[in-house]
Amino acid sequence: MLRVMRSGWLTTAHEARQFEIEFASAVGARHALAVSSATAGLHLALEAVGVTAGSRVITSPYTFAASSEVIRYLDADPLFVDVREDDLNIDPEAVEKALAGSQRVSAVLPIHIGGRACAIERIVAAAAERSVPVVEDAAHAFPATTNGRSLGTWGSAGVFSFYATKTMTTGEGGMIVTDDEALARRASVLRLHGIDRDVWNRYTSERPSWEYEIVDVGFKYNMPDLLAAIGRVQLTRADSFLADRRRVASIYNRELADAGYLQLPDTADSACHLYVVRIRPERLTITRDELMHRLADQGIGTSLHYIPLHLMPYYRRRYGFSPADFPVSLDAYQRAVSLPIYPDLTDEEADRVTRTIRSVCESRLAP
Ligand SMILES: Cc1ncc(COP(=O)(O)O)c(C=O)c1O
Repeated sequence: MLRVMRSGWLTTAHEARQFEIEFASAVGARHALAVSSATAGLHLALEAVGVTAGSRVITSPYTFAASSEVIRYLDADPLFVDVREDDLNIDPEAVEKALAGSQRVSAVLPIHIGGRACAIERIVAAAAERSVPVVEDAAHAFPATTNGRSLGTWGSAGVFSFYATKTMTTGEGGMIVTDDEALARRASVLRLHGIDRDVWNRYTSERPSWEYEIVDVGFKYNMPDLLAAIGRVQLTRADSFLADRRRVASIYNRELADAGYLQLPDTADSACHLYVVRIRPERLTITRDELMHRLADQGIGTSLHYIPLHLMPYYRRRYGFSPADFPVSLDAYQRAVSLPIYPDLTDEEADRVTRTIRSVCESRLAP
């Protein structure tokens, strides 16, 4: 930060470029583009792979607003398919069916929910058969691999989030990664007003600094150097953040293993961004909401991931969805509680979370 302040160059330049080089190397991608948010990155990536107005993008409703709104930015429509019961990731069989049975599909946008890999290899293979690009929403998924390869690098492009609560952060920010030169070039031009050279190039190249060309209608999606400097430091600590998140997850896994009234997540190989348990309502007389309130009373903050998008007024209005259209997403939403998980959470605090959940639930077991 100080280095950036002293350099006098606060917006996008050297630090952002270095951050991109370091991040590309961390995930094993040829290109990385720092952007103002993962939402911005997903928008650019979908545009760059060729999502156009009137086309459809296969994705799941069990996610945050951003994953689908970017499809609407391009005047395309999400083609929702449900998630799998076990890991709440998009169901690959449903993706295959949607690819085979639908017209005008311009991309698949799977989300690695909570940082746990979706069936990305199968999805990429199915999409490739029909020459449909895959853009991975890897907002939760750094650092994580499947079959030795980083999440976010399997599809045509992958997009990471550095929002404050994510596994590494720049406050706000994101990164697009791709091996595709043309895609990187397109996203790079649109990232900054559709100008053919970014600001740094303008001020350092041989050509006169005032010369530039606008080749398309672009956006203001660049990441300032001030934030990139934070990202570079965070990146050096990513492994230790991950180890701490996994430490917390393993305490929850161990201490709740025999709590039959809870369904625990499979955290193997996960970036452990989220730790979502699902209550088994038939074994308890306490509701999910009551449980969250009781934990809050004891100073334990929980959250809810996710209210599926097909329940949201906008999507219901536009597509006429009813709640039962995506039963697995609906059921997960009704039973899910996200437990606190972040690197600074101590063993004692994690133990207190599990003790409190156990005592609240075990005082309300179904007869
Ligand atoms: C699955 C998913 N995709 C995309 C985003 C958007 O990330 P950002 O806040 O960096 O735009 C989020 C943010 O929480 C997310 O959870």
